[in-house]
Amino acid sequence: MNPSPREIRLNAFDMACLGHIQQGMWTHPRDRAVDYLSLSHWTSLARTLERGLFDGLFLADVLGVYDVHGGSQDAAIRHGVQIPLLDPMLLVPAMAAVTRNLGFGVTVNLAWEPPALLARRFSTLDHLTGGRIGWNIVTGYLDSAARAMGLDRQMAHDDRYDMADEFMAVVYRLWEESWAADAVKRDRASGVYADPSRVSRIRHEGRQYRLDAPHLVEPSPQRTPVLYQAGASDRGRAFAAMHAECVFLNGGPKPHVAALVADLRTRAAGRPIKAFLGATLVIGRTAAEARDKLEDYRRCASVEAALVHASASLGIDLAALDLDDELPAAPGNAIQSNVTALRAAAPRATKRALVDRMILGSRQPPITGSAAEVADALAAWVDDADVDGFNLSRTVIPDCIEDVVDLVVPVLQERGRYKRAYAPGTYREKLFGAGPRLAAPHPAAAVAR
Ligand SMILES: Cc1cc2nc3c(=O)[nH]c(=O)nc-3n(C[C@H](O)[C@H](O)[C@H](O)COP(=O)(O)O)c2cc1C
Repeated sequence: MNPSPREIRLNAFDMACLGHIQQGMWTHPRDRAVDYLSLSHWTSLARTLERGLFDGLFLADVLGVYDVHGGSQDAAIRHGVQIPLLDPMLLVPAMAAVTRNLGFGVTVNLAWEPPALLARRFSTLDHLTGGRIGWNIVTGYLDSAARAMGLDRQMAHDDRYDMADEFMAVVYRLWEESWAADAVKRDRASGVYADPSRVSRIRHEGRQYRLDAPHLVEPSPQRTPVLYQAGASDRGRAFAAMHAECVFLNGGPKPHVAALVADLRTRAAGRPIKAFLGATLVIGRTAAEARDKLEDYRRCASVEAALVHASASLGIDLAALDLDDELPAAPGNAIQSNVTALRAAAPRATKRALVDRMILGSRQPPITGSAAEVADALAAWVDDADVDGFNLSRTVIPDCIEDVVDLVVPVLQERGRYKRAYAPGTYREKLFGAGPRLAAPHPAAAVAR
């Protein structure tokens, strides 16, 4: 008997700004990204995602302005390329209040604050969401963010991962070790809220961090949030294999993605990892309608804004290159795996090859077709590259999400490739089926009590 086909997992990939991945879409008359300042924009998105049984809403974040392109921030500001930008953590409680099952994967940069502060915010959100919070662990890729924080430039690429390793060791101890499972008594009769002998101070003296304090928040459903990571350089994969439960990979040719996933799974040595691939979908009720929609959206795409975004995330000033110049081969100090993915996609990685891919205003060309064609394409990615699901970038919102929910999800369900109901439990239990807390051999489990 054939094994039943693997279910496909879906996250919406968004950011609290106008131009996230597909630049220029906000100028489309139907696009509602301009409502990003209102709570109802986010609560309505969360409700739609839950109606479509999405596993999560994955929120990106950066802490600096995109000023690599031409050495100026002006084009980023003019086009709304990830600026202006709200703090994504603060959006979560409102969305949690109108949903019961949707997970929230929030990007938070660990580079600019002590571990105790970040640990408290995530524990707060784990409580308020009933165990539906996840953290996309990033250390940033922008010198402009370093300048905002009082430094001239960010740390070197691999050193950032070393800093993150130490940061993780500290937050695991705050989340998992500081409060014993039975520390909270909530005993009105004796007037004892918590037993001080069951709450320990975490003492740490390392290269980057010093700490001598208990965690301020009592144990939350998951303790450690579901851990995402999105770097795929060699050092990035070593970090992911150690810490991540889910990885977020950029697109690129299938064999390239398949090799990354296989390598990650090998490095994680049997520890389960869910791989989410970045994707953009343009869906119609028929193939012809999808093509028309693509043309309609395409008229709004901004190549200049896409180059602003690409310059910052590649760490290469693309304004300084002519169309037929090749991108520099040396790994930069920004997102190295983005440069590698581009080189894998084009035989000659020229600026022209890059611009040719910028169909809707990003380096990620869309998958376009009828619901059945899009379902075929997603299923083929899962089967051929061993990914578990997708982080779906927005085009024209909310149409792009409603198209997935109303057109593609029913087709996938029909084929047995998509859930018909949420699994019970926390975000981690819904994703992995085991308990709410991280288990061995994950390093967080080694300090758990
Ligand atoms: C698909 C993808 C999404 C990412 N999203 C963010 C983000 O929202 N904020 C951020 O600071 N870094 C983000 N990054 C950067 C990575 O998290 C990583 O810290 C860093 O760029 C190094 O990646 P590398 O190991 O591939 O060189 C993203 C990277 C990728 C590949």
